[in-house]
Amino acid sequence: MTESPVVGRGFGHGKVILVGEHAVVYGHAALAVGISTGISVEARAGTGRLQVPAWQLEAAAGDDTPVGRALAAILGRLEAPHLDFVADAQIPSRAGLGSSAALAVAIARAAAAASGRADATDAIDAAVTEAETIFHGDPSGIDAAAAKSGAAGTFTRAAGWRPVPVLQAMTICIGLSGRPRDTAAQVAAVRRLRERLPAAGDVLALLGRLADDAGAALGKGDVDGLGRILDAAHGLLAALRLSSPELEVLVHGARAAGAVGAKLTGAGGGGAVIALAPGHERDVLARWRAAGYEGFRAQIAAAPAGAAGAGGRT
Ligand code: MEV
Repeated sequence: MTESPVVGRGFGHGKVILVGEHAVVYGHAALAVGISTGISVEARAGTGRLQVPAWQLEAAAGDDTPVGRALAAILGRLEAPHLDFVADAQIPSRAGLGSSAALAVAIARAAAAASGRADATDAIDAAVTEAETIFHGDPSGIDAAAAKSGAAGTFTRAAGWRPVPVLQAMTICIGLSGRPRDTAAQVAAVRRLRERLPAAGDVLALLGRLADDAGAALGKGDVDGLGRILDAAHGLLAALRLSSPELEVLVHGARAAGAVGAKLTGAGGGGAVIALAPGHERDVLARWRAAGYEGFRAQIAAAPAGAAGAGGRT
């Protein structure tokens, strides 16, 4: 499988939701950033097989697994059944960092490039949407948008992805709980809670408002303001029963190590947290490591109005 020449390459960015996960499912805004760490895919002539060595994952288009079904959907949309793919995943799977969307974007881009259709953005978008629906049921689309963009942006179901200006670069720390999260299950749990506790709808609306405020803070370079918003958002997500003992250890550890704000990111229940700790990033990562958790840094790059700001693993 690795012998024949590479006929197409694709990349999908990992993503971090700064504020607004779950709210975005209900039409409210969310603010996210695509980080430069992500998934690279190489395509070669083949029969529709996929290998992701870092995740010990192998699948074949159409096999009875979500990955196999998603792969079949992507290859069908891009009319590219005679390809095999090897993915270099630099982000963990099921950690709240958009790994499934990054993989789908990378495969779709590699398949499109292999058939000389690298600019077939509509077909790539449709393929990624179908794959994400197989993985997550009824995703809002924010993960796919961030995986394609690699920049900071706000997302709503109605308006899609809009890049947001970032006045000054910021470093965020990402901490991994080690407990895999299940997006579809967490989204379903919030839906059930909303039916039984109507005030949960108000909490979701408030999270959307905080996402708008966070976008404004990025535009002004207001790091302290953004930190306070992250803390408030974490409290609201915990009120929706989306936190966990591990996530609380990570969030409180980050604050004790000097973070101006910290919260869970993504679907919750497990997965990852983010912390904003200007000048204290090393302390935060050391505190997490001492408690048995892995972490790394990513940049939100400065981006003037109208331009994009990508992130980077350091
Ligand atoms: C998952 O990364 C984000 C959620 O809001 C689900 C979605 O938007 O589809 C939890």
